Amino acid sequence: MAVKELTFIIVVCSCIVCTTEVEFFTSTDKISELFNEEEFLLKTFRLYIDSEEENVKIMKRLLLLLQLGSYLDPDDPEKIKDPVAAYKLIRRVRTEWINIVDYTQRSLYQLYQTVLKYAQIPQLKDLDGAASGLIRLQEIYKLYPHNITKEMALNADEAYHVGLVAYNEDKFQHAFHWFLYSVDSLTQYSNTTKENLLLYLSLSAYHFGSLPVAIYFGQQLLNLDPTNEEIKVLLDLFRRLRFQRSSNPDIFTLNKESSKFETLCRGEVDERTSKRQRALSCRYSTGGGNPRLMYPPVKEEVEWDEPRIIRYHDIISDREIEILKNISRPLLSRSLTTEGVSKDRTSQGVFLMEDNIVVARISQRIENITGLSKKSAESLFVQNYGIGGRYEPHYDELGYENGRIATFLIYMSDVEIGGATVFPDVGVVLKPKKGSAVFWFNLRKNGNVDLNTKHAGCPVLRGNKWVANKWIHVFGQEFRRPCSLSYLE
Ligand SMILES: *[C@@H]1O[C@H](CO)[C@@H](O)[C@H](O)[C@H]1NC(C)=O
Ligand SMILES: *[C@@H]1O[C@H](CO)[C@@H](O)[C@H](O)[C@H]1NC(C)=O
Ligand SMILES: *[C@@H]1O[C@H](CO)[C@@H](O)[C@H](O)[C@H]1NC(C)=O
Ligand SMILES: *[C@@H]1O[C@H](CO)[C@@H](O)[C@H](O)[C@H]1NC(C)=O
Repeated sequence: MAVKELTFIIVVCSCIVCTTEVEFFTSTDKISELFNEEEFLLKTFRLYIDSEEENVKIMKRLLLLLQLGSYLDPDDPEKIKDPVAAYKLIRRVRTEWINIVDYTQRSLYQLYQTVLKYAQIPQLKDLDGAASGLIRLQEIYKLYPHNITKEMALNADEAYHVGLVAYNEDKFQHAFHWFLYSVDSLTQYSNTTKENLLLYLSLSAYHFGSLPVAIYFGQQLLNLDPTNEEIKVLLDLFRRLRFQRSSNPDIFTLNKESSKFETLCRGEVDERTSKRQRALSCRYSTGGGNPRLMYPPVKEEVEWDEPRIIRYHDIISDREIEILKNISRPLLSRSLTTEGVSKDRTSQGVFLMEDNIVVARISQRIENITGLSKKSAESLFVQNYGIGGRYEPHYDELGYENGRIATFLIYMSDVEIGGATVFPDVGVVLKPKKGSAVFWFNLRKNGNVDLNTKHAGCPVLRGNKWVANKWIHVFGQEFRRPCSLSYLE
């Protein structure tokens, strides 16, 4: 039975053209797929073991049958007196040989290797990327290992790995904290050792400029392993340097300097003072009275005045969102920047073609709402973010002649914590709200880039962030958004 099932899985597997190169860490949605992958792996492994057991049983039975067929007395030197007996012997040996070859050639091992070949397994770069995402989250949200592991602890080996990734990224303070966490989590089953961790603690402390701490951990290592020549040399060096260099005594304060982008992401500032807030408004709009653009009223809110950022509420239904996600899921691939694949943008996305009725309807709706022609717009770009998924501050405008005049950004999910869209130069924080969209012009009426439209996507601390972007271009807007020669507009 198990043999048949395993064979069936192999047939199914070979029919699906699986791509083995999947990137996991840049899409929360892809990571959830790993749950199914894990279940599949464990199930087929169980099946493989069952099949092997079954096969061994069959082979043992065959052996028994073959042995029964051999009835001559092995001790009789003149066994073959009878030509018929000779014939039978020849025939029997030949049949046995065929049967044995047949049964042993059914190598389930080979078959199972085929199954494994099609499995989608995270690569080392996924593992390192996930650790890197955790570290990035810590940096931006000022989190210590104990903050970020409040819901789920890491074991000593896991914490050591995260520490190593931080160390290799020259983030020595973060590395130090992870190595400390790892020491605290050591058990007899840990693969990493206290000696190894003490060495890294000492080195990290040295790199972030705390020589007394580097010496302290170096000395601990030497006490544990008095024959360690490497640490003796290092300790000598640290002690000599100690009298030459000033030290950073504060090992527990993480990144004191943070950019405006980071402070905004943490929600520490919001420039929208109550006075300014009151001036901003919320109303129902019907296309500004332009008869060509009349559409059912849309709830519109002015999020900011300069640059003017409008939030439209409930412009896409949950069902439409589900459909967009369903079409996008199998097509997602790593989002690029103008430089290609970049650490500045950790998400996966796909441009959806308008031959899909829902995509076309949403495009039309955007045209109706903004009053801008969709003719020269890019197709809808759906995006899903990964661990610590973010997009560093950038302009949407690409500097081409027919540039991205405006951006329409649809939020397709709520995000529990993080994931806001921020405009660091003006101090605006836009929180994702499922079904709503925000809209702004990247270009001024005089055609110049509005420098205040630099924006960024904050890392997702908790949740699954989905957005859809519609970038509208200059061509086709000549009569819809009159241009101006004034350098002020
Ligand atoms: C992290 O933990 C420290 C100390 O327990 C606490 O003071 C701080 O508020 C926590 N930070 C966050 C963002 O939860
Ligand atoms: C255990 O540690 C050794 C030496 O540090 C390393 O080579 C090996 O890959 C580790 N094994 C696991 C399962 O992490
Ligand atoms: C989206 O896909 C899921 C899973 O395949 C399916 O259950 C659901 O009905 C689909 N939703 C829509 C609106 O097509
Ligand atoms: C766009 O506006 C046109 C004209 O008012 C209307 O017929 C159409 O239903 C609208 N389309 C969408 C998707 O809102």
